[in-house]
Amino acid sequence: MSRINGGYFQFSPVFGEVQRNLETILKAIHAFEGHLLVFPELALSGYQFLSKEEVRELADDIPSGPTIKVLEDAVRGRDLHVVVGLAERDHGRLYNSAVLIGPIGYIGTYRKTHVFFEETLWFAPGDTGFLVWDIGRARVGVLVCFDWFFPEAARSLALKGADILCHPGNLVLPYCPDAMVTRCLENRVFAITANRIGREQRGEKPALQFIGMSEIVAPNGRILCRSSEKDQELRLCEIDIAEARDKRINPYNDLLKDRRPHWYAS
Ligand code: ACM
Repeated sequence: MSRINGGYFQFSPVFGEVQRNLETILKAIHAFEGHLLVFPELALSGYQFLSKEEVRELADDIPSGPTIKVLEDAVRGRDLHVVVGLAERDHGRLYNSAVLIGPIGYIGTYRKTHVFFEETLWFAPGDTGFLVWDIGRARVGVLVCFDWFFPEAARSLALKGADILCHPGNLVLPYCPDAMVTRCLENRVFAITANRIGREQRGEKPALQFIGMSEIVAPNGRILCRSSEKDQELRLCEIDIAEARDKRINPYNDLLKDRRPHWYAS
């Protein structure tokens, strides 16, 4: 059972409309015919917050909050796992998190390690470290958006055995879709980047235009599918996990065994 149908849902969350965004997410879950579905970062709240209080209001407790329960109900009993980005409240702290939910319910949370730009005003840097879960058909690790900029993040997940990097994003800069080709090549992993589309402009802040271009990239750097910059899309690709488990580059080189950590700066 080395194949898994993985996909993403690219859409435009409406700022502050948690219930409406949740309904959009539920429709995508119901329509999806694969095994692993990744949603964007902060998919329930939207992105451009004006204050910490606003984040707190739109955040959820994980796993006891109402959103998690609804997502669990949508996935329960199906041969399906979902990764959803959302704002998390925990003991007075706020995190930019992503949850993994499967057929038997909530599995775990990753808290974004490298918070970006004004996120640093609202969110604490993640304290979970880089996590990999075995979901049966594959081993999955999670990065959130700007984490891609730090090669150590994807490398840590590869060293921990991830076959697929699940990567919720709210990308505004143009570099990531092409850069993920390198992240996949240098780690021989698949990546599912689920980015959002649309524009947000709140208060006096400059508008943010999200770049879409969600994609699935293979360990050899092939882009299996890539979305447009503007359209809502639910996409799915067949992923052969054996490709990610084979770290040999040629008969003489193995990507992970050939590392020389002794010489690397830290
Ligand atoms: C980002 O980390 N949302 C760019």
